[in-house]
Amino acid sequence: MDREYFYSIMNGTGKYDYEAYLNTYDLLRCQKEFADFCNADELQFQIVHQIEELWMKLIGYTLLDIDDYLRETNTNRVITLFRRVDVALKLMTDQLVLLETMSPKEYQEIRLQLGNGSGQESPGFQTILKMPQHLWKSFVTRYLDSKGLTIEKIYDVEYSHGDAYVVAEALIEFDELFQNFRYHHIQLIYRSIGMDAKSLKGRSVELLRKGVDTRFFPDLWDIRHKMTDKWGTEYGVVRDSVSKGH
Ligand code: HEM
Repeated sequence: MDREYFYSIMNGTGKYDYEAYLNTYDLLRCQKEFADFCNADELQFQIVHQIEELWMKLIGYTLLDIDDYLRETNTNRVITLFRRVDVALKLMTDQLVLLETMSPKEYQEIRLQLGNGSGQESPGFQTILKMPQHLWKSFVTRYLDSKGLTIEKIYDVEYSHGDAYVVAEALIEFDELFQNFRYHHIQLIYRSIGMDAKSLKGRSVELLRKGVDTRFFPDLWDIRHKMTDKWGTEYGVVRDSVSKGH
């Protein structure tokens, strides 16, 4: 195929309404010029990161709406929008695997192109990290405190599968999916640069493991083990075997 011909039409002209509305003229020029790629994997590397930034922009924007609806205790909206966030997070995680089609050698070449850049500087990631504390405050104020509820009540002693419980489960789902992204990102790092590599800034990538263990809403995780421990105390840590006598 005539590579130059296809390069010349791939980025579009920007003259149609579709292109104008979606700003494809600029969008398709957000990547390096074809001639400037250091290798054949660099286009994929740039595109995956750019798409991830767009999903994170959508997630951040949606979390702002969710916070407004939490403060209005509009549970239907909260749940519907959390579904959008969750789907976007799953897409973010699934897309990481595309970069596993890149060889470690080619990654090393691309890494040089990034200069001192690091995923830690991602605007989308930094935005999302700052939001959960606000969501938690809105949830606690409007769904718990103002109704005389606590996490223990909605999960255990007054469990009724009510709105507060359903929203709490949406929060923990978001938390879990975000941790999944971090976990798969580490798997991608292992695949690309190895398990014990020092990152560009000299710190072991193992430090990223701390992020995987970080929970946005620890109270929602803790209630589970508290209930299990309480249940264990009531029923005995060592239980009778169900096969006794057989
Ligand atoms: C082969 C692909 C990738 C490799 C080898 C890689 C490697 C790394 C490394 C070594 C770090 C630790 C900080 C540093 O030294 O820069 C990091 C952080 C990060 N990377 Fe990646 N990365 C890859 C792809 C991606 C993609 C596609 C995203 C999409 C958003 C991403 C987002 C991030 C974020 C958000 C952080 C900060 C994580 C945190 O602080 O918990 N990375 N990455």
